[in-house]
Amino acid sequence: MGTKEQWEALSAECAGCRACPLSQTRTKLVFGVGNPESEVLLIGEGPGEQEDLQGVPFVGPAGKLLDQMLEMIDLDRSRVYIANVVKCRPPRNRDPQPNEQQACRHWLDRQIALIDPKIIVCLGRIAGTAIIREDFRITREHGQWFDLGGRRVMATYHPSALLRDLSKRPEAFMDLRALRKEIREICTRTY
Ligand code: URA
Ligand code: SF4
Repeated sequence: MGTKEQWEALSAECAGCRACPLSQTRTKLVFGVGNPESEVLLIGEGPGEQEDLQGVPFVGPAGKLLDQMLEMIDLDRSRVYIANVVKCRPPRNRDPQPNEQQACRHWLDRQIALIDPKIIVCLGRIAGTAIIREDFRITREHGQWFDLGGRRVMATYHPSALLRDLSKRPEAFMDLRALRKEIREICTRTY
């Protein structure tokens, strides 16, 4: 969970990061949001336009849907922590490149170390390939649980994909139900 001082130190250090080219085009760096004491961490891809302007993850259209998805399983931003694979917006929302993901990875790893979550949910392919396996396949493997370093890890569809393709929503809902079940079984704090 980390102390308040540890979080302040980490976010202050991250705020000045210029380790990859995304620092040149960002408006605001998007560190993370939510409850650092949560046992559940959600990981997205990277900031979009609204996130870049506001400095907060998932505040645009995909974020609205994410909030609704959380609500369906009695969660909200005060009960989870939300971060991204890269903290600065890729221009025109392109995929973050491998060199950018690598440069940024230590910030996410330090967030994970402080939170020490029991459950990690990867939102979409990019987070799945970054966290679960380089060749992770979202279509085939969403909703499956993996054990990674003592944590339960699953990926589901990115809310942006669910905005584009309504036919994926029932499967995403099944994943959310599996998440709710897992939380009830293994989480002890905050639920
Ligand atoms: N998409 C993401 O992956 N992350 C955000 O913060 C917003 C949109
Ligand atoms: Fe630093 Fe990550 Fe932003 Fe690149 S994306 S400048 S590594 S914080």
